[in-house]
Amino acid sequence: MPAEVAEAARAARSAFAERFGRPPQGLWAAPARVNLIGEHTDYNDGFVLPFAIGRHVTVAAARRGDDLLRLVSLQKGTATLRLGDLAGARPGTVDGWAAYAAGPLWLLARDGVQVGGLDLLLTSDVPVGSGLSSSAAVECATLLAARDLYGGPDEPARLARLAQRAENEVVGVPSGIMDQMASMACRAGHALLLDCRSLASDQVPLALDDAGLVLLVVDTRVSHALADGAYAERRRTCEQAAGILGMAALRDATEADLDAARDRLGELRYRRARHVVRENARVHAVVDLLRRGRPDLIGDRLTASHASLRDDYQVSAAELDTAVEAALAAGALGARMTGAGFGGCALALAPAAAATAITDAVAAAFADHGLRPPEVFATRPTDGARRLA
Ligand code: GLA
Repeated sequence: MPAEVAEAARAARSAFAERFGRPPQGLWAAPARVNLIGEHTDYNDGFVLPFAIGRHVTVAAARRGDDLLRLVSLQKGTATLRLGDLAGARPGTVDGWAAYAAGPLWLLARDGVQVGGLDLLLTSDVPVGSGLSSSAAVECATLLAARDLYGGPDEPARLARLAQRAENEVVGVPSGIMDQMASMACRAGHALLLDCRSLASDQVPLALDDAGLVLLVVDTRVSHALADGAYAERRRTCEQAAGILGMAALRDATEADLDAARDRLGELRYRRARHVVRENARVHAVVDLLRRGRPDLIGDRLTASHASLRDDYQVSAAELDTAVEAALAAGALGARMTGAGFGGCALALAPAAAATAITDAVAAAFADHGLRPPEVFATRPTDGARRLA
């Protein structure tokens, strides 16, 4: 177990004992993710290539004999509810952070599992609103705990679907399946190629150390709020474009299809759809290179993805563009925003020897633009959600 996970598990165990007066029956962890490439493609039935990072939500939990759900977050506070209150849960039924922890229990119960009460303590080192999927990590960690204590499906794809539906139906964010699948199914040393239509997935080697490369994450510390409408608007626009093309989803479109229908689509829908079609192609190109053992050659695709998200999909932000430009100028092989956009994090692939220069250059560029200092950290692909003890 990596040292930081072992440390969080120890903290969760002792905090649980202190708060609830008994030891937990188990400990679970679910990671945050960075998406290497394949952005805003998941809800278009397309392809994504995320990997799990070494930031986690760690959960300690034990069954109760009644139907109380007592939740303690070491970062957010406490909440107590009855499982009965979750019946028919919709956005607003559970307030705030507790919806991310309680929502999956309702979905598990609706899947036919006899879910009972729980004492559950969470601790997280995933920055919230940073585009690293802190919410999916909470959902996946609590879902795994409840599944192990009360029963339920084994397959990561089924669990991920339950967690996604908790986010869609209880939290009220119309997100795709990428984040929950990444948190559930990623493997150390690999990125997860996911077909978001069939949920077929494949582990693709992302052997950075062997190639002398690092992945740097630049957290702009500009918080994005997915519920604020821009995400839902992009999703709707894509669905309209697919409808105009007479297709189930933009996954089925080619650039030739878009060109032939450009007038009917209108310029905005055309450009949104063009991003999706080209981004899916970039995912496959990156996967080919990684399978050939050439992570050093994927940089141009990452940078092209950023340009497309900035210009065609229009979900970047000044902070993200600044991070990408500064990283590239200081020697990164490729860089892009990652996650939904509008803030959150950028990713830079770089020779290990350039990491310090890039970190300094990004910090200097933020200062020059009068932006709040970002947090830059190196990351590598880790394992997905699991039981620790
Ligand atoms: C958020 C959503 C994902 C995905 C990304 C954009 O992270 O939760 O489902 O749509 O944005 O790629």
